Amino acid sequence: MSLPPCFALATEAAAACPLVVLDRSHYPAWRDAQTPAVQAWLDAHHFNGSGGSFLMVPSRDGTPAFVVVAINDAGDPLALAHLPTLLPAGVYGLSPDSPVAVDASLLLLGWGLGAYRFDRYLKSPKPLARLALESADFENVAAFALLKASILVRDLVNTPTEHMGPEELEAVAIRLAQAYGGQLRSIVGDELLAQNFPTIHAVGRASHRAPRLIELSWGDEAHPHVVIVGKGVCFDTGGLDIKTHDGMRNMKKDMGGGAHALALAQLVMARKLPIRMTVLVPAVENAISGNAFRPGEVIVTRQGLSVEIDNTDAEGRLVLCDALAYAAEKKPALILDFATLTGAARVALGPDLPALFCNDEALAADYLAAGERQRDRLWRMPLWRPYLSYLRSGIADLANGGPSRMAGCITAALYLERFVPDSQPWAHVDVYAWNDSERPGKPAGGEAQGLRAAFELLKVKFPAH
Ligand code: BES
Ligand code: ZN
Ligand code: ZN
Repeated sequence: MSLPPCFALATEAAAACPLVVLDRSHYPAWRDAQTPAVQAWLDAHHFNGSGGSFLMVPSRDGTPAFVVVAINDAGDPLALAHLPTLLPAGVYGLSPDSPVAVDASLLLLGWGLGAYRFDRYLKSPKPLARLALESADFENVAAFALLKASILVRDLVNTPTEHMGPEELEAVAIRLAQAYGGQLRSIVGDELLAQNFPTIHAVGRASHRAPRLIELSWGDEAHPHVVIVGKGVCFDTGGLDIKTHDGMRNMKKDMGGGAHALALAQLVMARKLPIRMTVLVPAVENAISGNAFRPGEVIVTRQGLSVEIDNTDAEGRLVLCDALAYAAEKKPALILDFATLTGAARVALGPDLPALFCNDEALAADYLAAGERQRDRLWRMPLWRPYLSYLRSGIADLANGGPSRMAGCITAALYLERFVPDSQPWAHVDVYAWNDSERPGKPAGGEAQGLRAAFELLKVKFPAH
């Protein structure tokens, strides 16, 4: 990836306008050390160092001298993420005289996240405030890899389905495999039936764009094996149990789990984690046509359990169950999955907090702690087995839904759990992958959520020796 337009090279740092970072507690002493003219300017703007506020301070000739920025939490990468869109276009750099030390990596990440716009279809994107990087070797900075991975999620989710169908998602995986020395194999169309992935085929068969299971492998055979699975429903109409117009409006994002899986893979490969990795993305369009799968149908899944289709809109768990069964056949050290699986997860936790489900206490604790450290939090939800009764079928081992509207994200996770052996460490994240509104560092549209947490988890669980 070349340098995103919101950054300037270190060589431009000399001409950069300094960013003086402080917090409320440091403000009074810092103010007192300024010239009377600067003090008067600060007071005239009622600047008081409260977190989130900033002020451009001019020199005597009226040109910008520096920008004073007040933050609440120096460990939050988004603390300065509002600046790139609010400051005038120009080059900025962290002032070494800042009363509060800000980690250059966090600043880089936050600046990049805040500057992001999905401009693929825009004629002339607006010029941006640019941050002068400290290192010319930006490609090897860990924060840059995190930024790049988050941007990948956003771009993939924001791209409309016509340009991000199953085949285009596969092309992204091919590009990643080529860039980092991975192998790619895809099982496409009727071959899914021949190779026993009946649920992926059933959900995807009604689209003119062939369903597929994308499989990316990378790493040294001697390292512990991690399988990363992501829901790749490139558009979810709901199938025959068709969604309402507002329910369908943003369903280009229903491959958000797959986008997280591919972005996590990119991070693992770019940072050369000592693991062997398999990424599985069942990529389909849940479309409607004469051959669409129907409510009431029974599908015998890869793993052998039969599933009665209660609702064709509960398609995520269907494409995932065959992918998870296949993942478990490999007996890896760990399976992680990401999916925009239920609306219920959003009702329970809101749009910003991904729901974590995990069959292993230590793994869950590590995942949550990784999220805390990365300021990329998840919330654990229970795999409360009694609620499996909501997925009873009269004629099959399991149903993919039921009449109850209760505990929707838990029943979805319980459904997935049936396809993972008890002894297999597994974590499932039900993620929204979207910002409904514009906030600092969180532009409206596709969003990576729990991605930094997942990468941090892998780093902690599989440390380099
Ligand atoms: N893709 C949706 C879930 C979704 C909806 C995620 C809105 C984020 C925002 C999923 O395929 C779905 O439709 N789930 C149903 C399941 C139900 C029919 C059992 C749901 O959550 O309502
Ligand atoms: Zn659905
Ligand atoms: Zn869906």
